Amino acid sequence: MTSEKTLIFKDVTVRYHDKSASVLSGITMGVSSNERVALFGLNGSGKTTLLLAATGLLPFTGRIVVDGIELTKKTADTVRDRIGFLFSTPEDQILFPRVIDDTAFSLTRRKIPVKEAHARAHDALARLGAADLADKSPFQLSHGQRQRVALAGALVAAPPLLLLDEPSSALDPAGKRSLAVTLSGINAAMLVATHDIPFAASVCSRYVLLNAGKTHSEGVDFKKAELCLDDSKI
Ligand SMILES: Nc1ncnc2c1ncn2[C@@H]1O[C@H](COP(=O)(O)OP(=O)(O)O)[C@@H](O)[C@H]1O
Ligand SMILES: [Mg+2]
Repeated sequence: MTSEKTLIFKDVTVRYHDKSASVLSGITMGVSSNERVALFGLNGSGKTTLLLAATGLLPFTGRIVVDGIELTKKTADTVRDRIGFLFSTPEDQILFPRVIDDTAFSLTRRKIPVKEAHARAHDALARLGAADLADKSPFQLSHGQRQRVALAGALVAAPPLLLLDEPSSALDPAGKRSLAVTLSGINAAMLVATHDIPFAASVCSRYVLLNAGKTHSEGVDFKKAELCLDDSKI
């Protein structure tokens, strides 16, 4: 059912350390299954922090529910298995000296046999037009290629939720168009942190705009969001 929420934040307040000041406060929002939502905000508004909080990596108060599982210390590993995460710098998530091993990692770490994991990793790379990169070293790749490899790794286990941090940054116009088409064809709920409004408008059906750690506004009128993101109007 499309109305089921794959991601819920309820009155979420996040700090980087138990006693430091909150970086996000009182965030309430959700993403329905297969819905794609843009997360807007100026630099430092808390977009990356909100994505990280959903993976259980930061202390928070309030409730976070992923694919029906309440996020707690005990459930954090299970919750992370339901999430595909794309970091804003793909090199931060590439771990192996060969692309195919890297792409297959979220399967091999779940003890899926290497042969099957590699076959699925090949499929994920092929979906992203990156099948020819399988035997390369990630360190020989361009930024756009690395990003496709990182995205293939996020998708390979078919998670119900994708959290994408600035996925279009540093891509050329053709790369952005191709990424938008790819994301639009994926069956998963997505929260896409970005300040690239045209890209978000081509991928997402609505947006939530953060300002200084709070929800500033939300809606479906991406032109309005563009006006809000102009420094003087926020
Ligand atoms: N590791 C960290 N420790 C403490 N504060 C941090 C850390 N990372 C980010 N922050 C602070 O959290 C706030 C939100 O940052 P961030 O979530 O990265 O914003 P955005 O992704 O919207 O640019 C900023 O004030 C930033 O300085
Ligand atoms: Mg960020």
